[in-house]
Amino acid sequence: MPTRRRFTLGLAATALAGAGAYAAGRAFVGRAAAYSTAELSQTAVRAPARDVVVNLMPAPRATALPAFGGPALPLWSFAPGDVFPNVVRMRFGETLVATVENGIPEGQEELTVHWHGVRLPNAEDGVPYLTQKPIPFGARFTYRFTPPDPGTYWFHTHCNTAESIGRGLIGVLIVEGDETRPYDADQLLCLKDWRVGKDGAAGGFLPFLTDSGASKAGTFGALRTVNGAVSPRLALPAGGDVRLRLINVDPTRVPEIGIEGAEAAIVAVDGAGIPPVPFKTWRLGPAMRLDLVVRMPATGGEVRVVDYFAADPVVLSTLVATGETLARGAFDPAPLVRPAIPEPDLAAAERMPFVFSATATGAALGAADGIPFGPLCASEKTFWAINRAPWPNRGHAVLPPPLAELKRGRSYVFELANVTPHVHPIHIHGHTWRVVKSSAGPVIPHFADTVLVAPKERVEVAFVADNPGDWMLHCHIIEHQETGMMGFLRVA
Ligand code: C2O
Ligand code: CU
Repeated sequence: MPTRRRFTLGLAATALAGAGAYAAGRAFVGRAAAYSTAELSQTAVRAPARDVVVNLMPAPRATALPAFGGPALPLWSFAPGDVFPNVVRMRFGETLVATVENGIPEGQEELTVHWHGVRLPNAEDGVPYLTQKPIPFGARFTYRFTPPDPGTYWFHTHCNTAESIGRGLIGVLIVEGDETRPYDADQLLCLKDWRVGKDGAAGGFLPFLTDSGASKAGTFGALRTVNGAVSPRLALPAGGDVRLRLINVDPTRVPEIGIEGAEAAIVAVDGAGIPPVPFKTWRLGPAMRLDLVVRMPATGGEVRVVDYFAADPVVLSTLVATGETLARGAFDPAPLVRPAIPEPDLAAAERMPFVFSATATGAALGAADGIPFGPLCASEKTFWAINRAPWPNRGHAVLPPPLAELKRGRSYVFELANVTPHVHPIHIHGHTWRVVKSSAGPVIPHFADTVLVAPKERVEVAFVADNPGDWMLHCHIIEHQETGMMGFLRVA
């Protein structure tokens, strides 16, 4: 079988000088609120089978990103170079063969790589102790899987993750093959804040995990970036329909994304296509992805990607319309293909409550009768719990029992209830939920692997437990995950 290497280490982000007035958008009416993914008529076409071989070499590397303004910071990265993030692109139907060689001598001796959002076999899921032994410093491990869905995904470690993501050790995985008609451009916007203080990058990193942050909304970074730059200006084809792949890899921040100066539509959430809906705003919690199609204005016009969740909206990036203005007619963005995610049978589904709370004092910290395991990659403190059980709930040397045992092939409705004063982006491994409803009001129907649950909110998500194995369920505010808000489901 032919093998090839296709590891893109950077982003074609052309910085431009000069500004132009941005054009007001026309009104894209879109469809009625109620629709189903069955409206998406095309399914993804498989590329010829072949291996996409990549070598990931996580290691400490002094890296000078544009945002740091000169000084290099002690990042951890998957490959050499002053770029962020590292990107792996492949086509639907191809098999990823990723060899990871742990080059981090200190702080990440328990390295595994988790492929966030990919419905892959359990043994490839990259959770230390639960699905594999961690890769020690100097050793290698090869992940091999064929992504069952095209779309926008990412990968990161699953142990000491607050520090690991804090130092930039993440990668983006793009599986091509979901477009029914090619867009005029494909632009990644990878959001991440960096933990630097008043002196900026020259002062080095601040602590990534703090008790005061972990016990509240998390510890925020002050240096906000997109693709490693502060508010980058990105050149995109004037008049064109541009696909924006937004990924929030930050461990903490939950921006409310808006687009100013153009019409836009949502075409996918967490990698899974939905019939295009007019875009207003979207709260993009840690680990969540959003694919938008934006109609660029005429040459010289500008579109701003903003975060409204701040006293003054923050301009995350400016898209600058460049080149001859393309004539594309009224805005009617092409949909993506229909997701192959199985539809849960809501009528027959078993309902299960999951309550996300602060640590239940007095919860069973009982005798160690579980399976002995190594340290479970959690901090010494627990502030949070799922169904009253903090992770790990029996000391640090024992794997807790599963939160629930699910029957393979059965449909489930999970009722996610947040009884804390903070938002939690709740993530499931190995499966993708259908977001059914929320106590906070109507939801745009969509699939998601990470769902934001606001204080006092109850969100219902449904899915078919079709993937056997032990699968993590946790908050993706990493300090919450690492201080208790984590558990696993067993599908058998
Ligand atoms: Cu993105 Cu369990 O993780
Ligand atoms: Cu949380």
